[in-house]
Amino acid sequence: MEYGFSLQLRSNRAILAPPCPSFSGRKCLLFPAKSSLKTGSQIHPLLSFSVDISNSTACKAVRSATSVETTEVTELNWDNLGFGLVPTDYMYVMKCSSDGIFTNGELKKFGPIELNPSAGVLNYGQGLFEGLKAYRKADGSILLFRPEENAMRMIDGAARMCMPAPTVEQFVDAVKMTVLANNRWVPPTGKGSLYVRPLLMGSGPVLGLAPAPEYTFLIFVSPVGNYFKEGLSPINLIVENEYHRATPGGTGGVKTIGNYASVLKAQKIAKEKGYSDVLYLDAVHKRYLEEVSSCNIFVVKGNVISTPEIKGTILPGITRKSIMDVAQGQGFQVEERAVSVEELLNADEVFCTGTAVVVSPVGSITYLGKRVEYGNSGVGVVSQQLYSALTSLQMGLAEDHLGWTVQLN
Ligand code: COI
Repeated sequence: MEYGFSLQLRSNRAILAPPCPSFSGRKCLLFPAKSSLKTGSQIHPLLSFSVDISNSTACKAVRSATSVETTEVTELNWDNLGFGLVPTDYMYVMKCSSDGIFTNGELKKFGPIELNPSAGVLNYGQGLFEGLKAYRKADGSILLFRPEENAMRMIDGAARMCMPAPTVEQFVDAVKMTVLANNRWVPPTGKGSLYVRPLLMGSGPVLGLAPAPEYTFLIFVSPVGNYFKEGLSPINLIVENEYHRATPGGTGGVKTIGNYASVLKAQKIAKEKGYSDVLYLDAVHKRYLEEVSSCNIFVVKGNVISTPEIKGTILPGITRKSIMDVAQGQGFQVEERAVSVEELLNADEVFCTGTAVVVSPVGSITYLGKRVEYGNSGVGVVSQQLYSALTSLQMGLAEDHLGWTVQLN
């Protein structure tokens, strides 16, 4: 889709800026494409804007009484979504300089960005990311899950990384706007979700080690299905005994980009041996569970569900926190504490949680050459129960008594 314009968010409304040179002549209204999904793309006040299209050959638009809707179709096999980037229509970009105030956020056509080779993020890893999902409800509307939690986590991470951050309101408005602009990429209900990836980076130039003089907040999105190639089948983890993900006093507790680069080596070795991913131990005792490369971990023993406590080396997952509340609501005793590798090996069930992985059952753990299996090669009862409860909330299939979902249209 070739529109060649950008949108600015002002007072919660989107306005066109600046007019695209390739469009001229009469004016009309444009809205996000009505996709071939028949998933109820709706006109939303956040996204009304006018653009001049009469001389355009690029814009495939049809005029109606009050709007122009593109005839662009979303040619995607919704039944085959994995967790890979599908380029979508728009991304959101907002900048701030040394005053620390983010302003003039705008939607842009999704595509490459320009960065100074000396940017803080490229040279010294001054960057954070977030992840959240938008789900299509059966009536065609879209739900976000706890977006303000991601906003607050980005603010916390930014403080650790000496970066300014967008306010919660700016973050949530930007997420809403980006999702609505990419409405046609939100999978049909039950076929997956739209993964939303906010980034915060030191985009200004530095040479000596110092915080960057300018920052960019960017959001892009991609339709996704299951994170692990196993789908919803149980994954096989290996406990890593040599490499560590985080150390006390480090940045393991925030979602900085470097935490993810540093686990690639162990993950690559594990995958070459046929494991799905790596489970890390604490760097001090090499005995207590920390987390998997991309998600938190839980062990189940009888009615007790335990997960490593948040102590600076473990990411405070939003799915982790939500599952703890859901499990408590279902009568489980939930404990946040040091969980030893011995307890893991003696557990009834083990599962992982994360935005990308949702609730992923663990089928086996291998530690120092010893393999322990869980759930008789199937999905454990508790994992299944919690997965169903959480996804029903996220997809709007269950009553949201906790006010966790945000309806977009
Ligand atoms: C997420 O679950 O959203 C994450 O950020 C993990 C990432 C490695 C996909």
